[in-house]
Amino acid sequence: MDRKEILHWLRCNDPQELQLLWDWADRTRREHVGEAVHLRGLVEISNFCARSCHYCGLRAANHQVSRYRMEAEEILQCAAQAMQLGYGTLVLQSGEDEGIEAEWLAGLIRQIKATTSLALTLSLGERSESDLQLWHEAGADRYLLRFETSDTALYRAIHPDRGTKVSDRLAILRRLRQLGYETGSGVMVGIPGQGYETLADDILLFRELDLDMIGIGPFIVHPETPLGQMPPPLPSSAQVEPSIEMTCKTLALARIIRPDANIPATTAVAVMDAGQGRERALTRGANVIMPNLTPPRFRELYTIYPGKADRVEAADQSDRQIRDQIAALGRHVGTGQGGRRGRAQKKPTKTPTTLRIAVCMGSSCYSRGNNGKAIENLRHCAESAGFAPEISGHLCEDQCTQGPHITIEDTLYSNVQPSCFPELLKHHLATAKEAHDG
Ligand code: 5AD
Repeated sequence: MDRKEILHWLRCNDPQELQLLWDWADRTRREHVGEAVHLRGLVEISNFCARSCHYCGLRAANHQVSRYRMEAEEILQCAAQAMQLGYGTLVLQSGEDEGIEAEWLAGLIRQIKATTSLALTLSLGERSESDLQLWHEAGADRYLLRFETSDTALYRAIHPDRGTKVSDRLAILRRLRQLGYETGSGVMVGIPGQGYETLADDILLFRELDLDMIGIGPFIVHPETPLGQMPPPLPSSAQVEPSIEMTCKTLALARIIRPDANIPATTAVAVMDAGQGRERALTRGANVIMPNLTPPRFRELYTIYPGKADRVEAADQSDRQIRDQIAALGRHVGTGQGGRRGRAQKKPTKTPTTLRIAVCMGSSCYSRGNNGKAIENLRHCAESAGFAPEISGHLCEDQCTQGPHITIEDTLYSNVQPSCFPELLKHHLATAKEAHDG
């Protein structure tokens, strides 16, 4: 999947063609991380923030927010609740709050790790290297830090530095990895000023950073922020729309490009489309949900964007709803910590040889038969012949009159009808063997 192809999908608006992308992402999810949906209990431990990001309702400059910081005992109760609900991971999230003292948190981390079997994820913003190292040594397993956008000019415009310290989240992400954390990042979709090329580069960066976790949510305007008060910076044709559909495209492409990452159906998706958002994300590449365990009196103050506080239900009530949603999709709740690196690797007795097959997704080839059903048929033929097919879509080869086109390894075949796949495959393998032998 290259940049051109990513851009094609981001710009695609044809529901039939998009169905191919959804199917591709869902199949990739099933093959690489299975049917389990992992539940991570989220605790928003403080809404103090030293930054004034132009998108976030918790920005320091928003004086309308009442600030809170949870006590250790309250956080430990949330950890106990996560255990009772059968979750494998606890996520501690906050604004960038220097009032969360490094030694104090290290003590709390040690206590949680000593008294529970939870994996521990931190999402506490840009902290010093010594803090990050201390917390990892204390037992923290994972760290989440979204880079928000790969466009450095846009990032700098919406994410002011703190004093003289220049914000370099990519450098922090690389350092987190070196320190031994499983590392998560992600972006908002539809930030004012975000164009399609930028979003394509964001997706390529997921691959370059080899992320273990990828969080993607739509940008939601907060009226008490600079982005909520300014006119649109781009013409609407160039601006990425902050919609569920665009978020799902990004999520699906993230799954295809980083097949074994853990990807949540984020809260922002559930807030933007309360009816269907989560299900859509789960069937288009997501495999994680982060139920909110923050006590309701704090949760309603954690207003990163509007609508978030409207979803204040008791933890056990939302837990039941989430389990029903997962079961209705024919999926099951994951057991254990559900980390990327801890994932049990299936050891096949003999690794099947991969076979690269590229299917032309140009509209002409699509209408001549290169559709989702044909791809399934191709996959089946290749697997029956003992191969591990790596099927990808590619764009028009400008030879539409001879379509549908299919490329096996490096050979382009024209006029391929689905009924001919078994014969074509036999022919290809025989020709390849001849070339190899002789
Ligand atoms: N809309 C959507 N997501 C937001 N975030 C912050 N503000 C908003 C907003 N207005 C996301 C950012 C941040 C994460 C914790 O929440 O991506 O990293």
